[in-house]
Amino acid sequence: MAPTPSAAASAEDVERAYADNKLAQVLYHDWEAGTYDEKWSISFDERCTAYARDRFEAITGMPEPLPYGTALELGAGTGFFSLNLRLAGVLDEVHVTDLSPGMVEAAKANAERLGFAVEGRVADAERIPYDDNTFDVVVGHAVIHHIPDVEAAFAEMLRVLKPGGRFVVAGEPTRIGDWYARRLGRVTWHATKAVTALPPLRERWARAQEELDESSRAAALEAVVDLHTFDPDELARTALRAGAVDVRTRTEELTAAFLGWPVRTFEAAVRPGALGWGWAMFAYGSWRRLSAVDRVLARAVPARFFYNVGITGVKPG
Ligand SMILES: C[S@@+](CC[C@H](N)C(=O)[O-])C[C@H]1O[C@@H](n2cnc3c(N)ncnc32)[C@H](O)[C@@H]1O
Repeated sequence: MAPTPSAAASAEDVERAYADNKLAQVLYHDWEAGTYDEKWSISFDERCTAYARDRFEAITGMPEPLPYGTALELGAGTGFFSLNLRLAGVLDEVHVTDLSPGMVEAAKANAERLGFAVEGRVADAERIPYDDNTFDVVVGHAVIHHIPDVEAAFAEMLRVLKPGGRFVVAGEPTRIGDWYARRLGRVTWHATKAVTALPPLRERWARAQEELDESSRAAALEAVVDLHTFDPDELARTALRAGAVDVRTRTEELTAAFLGWPVRTFEAAVRPGALGWGWAMFAYGSWRRLSAVDRVLARAVPARFFYNVGITGVKPG
């Protein structure tokens, strides 16, 4: 039977989660599900639709005719990647899956608001509950760094793909990128908390203390759920060992990550709704400009220094 979502984990649950990584994933992501879109500024409009499409294109070069007929997303969260790819005309029939029941419900609710019929299932990417040769494309975003056996997950993606079908996994942290992103995030979190606690700013900007305490408890579990960072070449070898062909990786975001991590942490550390649409557009516009700078820098800077790695590969046949 599928586990039911829980908004709040008990102290005993958290204790057990340290010994059982899959339970930790479910507790942490169920807890995140209700506020995830706000925390990561996820929208289903031009901003995130263009972002999702551009990541997909950067990794694959869009070699096949669009849209892909049947698509599966693993670790879909609230549906950020596959629902925006559907809006962008890259995917047609979307199946969202996640280990966290709370995330599957959130993704289905987002799809319903967008007027899409999507199928949603609770699913572990290491044992995907679909038949062999079912999908034209399997996608994932920011998911494989949570999966204990990444090679098993690639093998499962290949099993459920039709022969010639493609997997596309985007937004995974590189080893070096994760190192600087975490440090930038930590400094921004503490600085924002200190500044917004000052009396003239507190009322408009500070988050409620209980929300900050809850975030701190969640941050302890975050260290348990983030299992991997990747070297792009090693990641490609893992997919090849699982049986993929035409494997390629692509890294992105260097100066954009230097901006993006402080911005996202700042957004999460201030009172919800305090920043508004003008801020969101400013942050997005700045990120786009720096991403253009990064594309030029990519000619000279080694791939492993960039923050994000994406990978694609094809099922032989
Ligand atoms: C960082 S979130 C990313 C969510 C979404 N893809 C996005 O980009 O917004 C990672 C997601 O992977 C899911 N997850 C963790 N372990 C998993 C597993 N073994 N199989 C499937 N999903 C998993 C989590 O529940 C969570 O929703």
